[in-house]
Amino acid sequence: MALIDRSILLIGECMIELSPLQGGEFKSGFAGDTFNTAWYLRRKMRDAWNVGYFTAVGDDHWSAEMLRFFAGAGVDTRDVVTVAGRSPGLYIVRLEKGERSFSYWRSNSAARAMMDDKEQFERSLEGKGVIFFSGITLAILSPENRDRFIAALAQARLKGSLIAFDPNVRPHLWESSDVMRSTISKAGEVADIVLPSFEDEHTHFGDKSSEETIRRYATEPGKVIVVKNGGHEVVTQSSQGDLSFWAPAKVENPVDTTAAGDAFNAGFLASYLEDENIPDAVACGGALAAKVISKLGALVD
Ligand SMILES: Nc1ncnc2c1ncn2[C@@H]1O[C@H](COP(=O)(O)OP(=O)(O)O)[C@@H](O)[C@H]1O
Ligand SMILES: [Mg+2]
Repeated sequence: MALIDRSILLIGECMIELSPLQGGEFKSGFAGDTFNTAWYLRRKMRDAWNVGYFTAVGDDHWSAEMLRFFAGAGVDTRDVVTVAGRSPGLYIVRLEKGERSFSYWRSNSAARAMMDDKEQFERSLEGKGVIFFSGITLAILSPENRDRFIAALAQARLKGSLIAFDPNVRPHLWESSDVMRSTISKAGEVADIVLPSFEDEHTHFGDKSSEETIRRYATEPGKVIVVKNGGHEVVTQSSQGDLSFWAPAKVENPVDTTAAGDAFNAGFLASYLEDENIPDAVACGGALAAKVISKLGALVD
């Protein structure tokens, strides 16, 4: 795979995370699907790679803290847009009998305005070796901006960028299931690497097997499709069209599956982008995901 540059730009929304401590106290952190992948990628990839994040932040204290957090994690912030008067989205974690649930305040977050300056967005894509986004990235955009987003990615692909996409299907973020399905399908068409989770695809697209998910996203030859499935087999199709299967090792003490898929994506891409070896890349993604689900929180050491 001849990449035009050893850089990967991830696009999406990072939020403030408040998670419970003992005694009714909370601690703050930062997380969000594509950002989690960026954070793990930065740790997994060699220094020769640049890992950058594209999003919008506001001009308040928490936006500045978020940028400091990105930079502290080694994630390049040069493409982050600032939108005056806005703030980052927020979610609060509730822990009850070991089950985590989430409440979100993100409907007017700065990230939703990340494409308000379309030229700036397109400039950010220029020359990037790899561009990664998810169904959540699309869900938070306006309908017009979703079309522009997909068109800009198609352009970037023509100019040589490799496009990677995790559908991360979240119906509550979309105005309708039909718009969600058609937008996610269009996004899949412009991607070279698609990383869906079978559970999502089964529930919202009706796929009966991971192979069916692969066939649906394999809209042209040469795509790599990687279907995750919780504790079950990961099924992949290589760019040559060969299927392969990988069973995750049993995780003895799964504490918190938050960000399992995001971490898997990072482990997979970090390995695949080096040598295009699918079995090694799946094992690398699975090993990182296994580590993440045996600890509490989205971003774990
Ligand atoms: N119970 C589990 N046991 C072992 N591995 C798991 C388990 N749940 C998740 N994983 C690992 O995390 C990956 C992603 O999990 P999955 O639940 O499919 O994604 P998502 O978090 O996006 O829903 C799986 O492919 C697997 O490698
Ligand atoms: Mg996922």
